Amino acid sequence: MFGFHYFTPTKVVFGKNTESQAADLIKEFGGTKVLIHYGGGSVVRSGLLKRVTDNLDAAGISYVALGGAVPNPRLGLVYEGIELCKKENVDFLLAVGGGSAIDSAKAIGYGVANEGDVWDFYDYKREAKGCLPLGVILTIAATGSEMSNSSVITKEEGLVKRGYSSDFGRPKFAIMNPELTMTLPDYQTACGCTDIMMHTMERYFTNGGNMEITDALAEGLLRTVKKNAVILRDNPKDYDARAEVMWAGSLAHNGLTGCGNDGGDWMTHKLEHELGGLYDVAHGAGLAAIWGSWARYVYKNCLPRFKRFALNVCEVEDKGTDEEIALRGIEAMEDFYRSINMPTNLRELGVNPTEDELVLMAHKCAVGVGGEMGSAKVLNEEAMLAIFRASV
Ligand code: NZQ
Ligand code: ZN
Repeated sequence: MFGFHYFTPTKVVFGKNTESQAADLIKEFGGTKVLIHYGGGSVVRSGLLKRVTDNLDAAGISYVALGGAVPNPRLGLVYEGIELCKKENVDFLLAVGGGSAIDSAKAIGYGVANEGDVWDFYDYKREAKGCLPLGVILTIAATGSEMSNSSVITKEEGLVKRGYSSDFGRPKFAIMNPELTMTLPDYQTACGCTDIMMHTMERYFTNGGNMEITDALAEGLLRTVKKNAVILRDNPKDYDARAEVMWAGSLAHNGLTGCGNDGGDWMTHKLEHELGGLYDVAHGAGLAAIWGSWARYVYKNCLPRFKRFALNVCEVEDKGTDEEIALRGIEAMEDFYRSINMPTNLRELGVNPTEDELVLMAHKCAVGVGGEMGSAKVLNEEAMLAIFRASV
C-alpha cells in the first residue's frame, strides 16, 4: 500500500432542477463576469442554456457565451476563449455540457491565468501556476472532468491529443441533475458508461500496491455501472439509473478509486487518445475497441488482479486455472460491451487504419508518454504497435 494525497475541492450539487442554483454558486465563489462555455448546440436545443442565462440575468450576473467545443476539443477554440475572456474581463468560467466543454473551459482558464502559450502545459514544457475559477453544469455522465484535475485538448496541427493535469483546474462546483442526461443519444450514454468504468479499471489493474477499501469501492462502482448501463439501454428515461451512473462518473475519476495504489496503468487511455486524435472517434467507444487487445497483451503480468476482476466484477465461475479465469473475465467484459452496443475492435469502431497509420499512432503514443508506460505491464513502442495491430 502506498501513501496518497486525496484532494477533492469540488462542491457537488446533485439532483433535480439543481441548475437553478448556478447564479448563487457563481456568487458564492466570487464570480462577477462569466464566460459560459458549451459544445455543439445540444444545450441550446434542450433549452438548458436559456434557463441558465435567465438565471444569471435574474441574479444580475453579466456574462458572455462561447459555444463550439467539439468532442475531442480543439486548441483553436481555446485560444479564442482566452482572447474573449481577456477582452471582457471575465473572472469566472461556467462550462455547460460534457467533458469536451469542461476540458476546453479548463484550458481557457489556464490560458487566462498564465502568461505564454497554453499548449506548453499540454506539451509537458511547464506547469500552470493558476487557473480561472470554473463551475460546471454537467449534461453527460462520462469523463468525470467535473471533479477531476485533468483536461484533454487536441492540437489541430499534427492532430496531437494530449492531457494536462493540475489541481488548479479542479472545478469549484459541479451541478449534476441526472434529468439533463436524458436527451443523450443512446450511443453517448453507452460511451459514457464505458469511460466511467475504464477510469476505475485503469486504477485497478496495477502491480503497485492495493488497499482492500479501494478495491471494494472500485468493484462496487464497476458492478453498479455495468448493471445500470443495461437498464439505460432498455429504458433511457430511468431517473435512478441516470443518477447512479452520474455519481459513479464523478467518483470514478476524482481519485477515490486510486487511493493506496501506484497511480494506475492508464495505457488504454493513452492508446485511445491516438485514435481520438487521428479519427475523431467518441472517447468511450475508442476505449472499448482497444481494451480487449490491451488486456490480452498484459494479463499474464498482472494475473491476480485480472482474476479478481473476473470473479468480483464479471462474476465468472471460479473454476480452472488462474489464467483461464482471467481470460473468461476479459471475454465477459467484451460481451458486456457488445450488449450495450459498444465496439470491441477497430473495425466495429468504424476505422480501418493502414499499417503506416498503426505505426504512426504507436510512435506518437510512445512520444506522448515519454517512451514507455503502464503498471499492469510496462509498454514500449513495439508493444503499443502490437496492441494496435491486434485490435484491427
Ligand atoms: O456538443 P454538444 O452539442 O453538446 O453534443 C454533445 C457531443 O456531441 C453530446 N451531448 C452531451 N450532453 C448531451 C448531449 N447530447 C444531448 N443531450 C445531452 N444532455 O454528446 C456528445 C459528446 O459530448 P462530449 O462532451 O464530447 O463527451 P464526453 O463527456 O465523453 O467528453 C469527451 C472528451 O473528454 C475527454 C475525452 O478524451 C474527450 O475529448 N476526457 C476528459 C477527461 C478529463 N478531463 O478528466 C478524462 C477522460 O478520460 C477523457 O479523456
Ligand atoms: Zn476516459
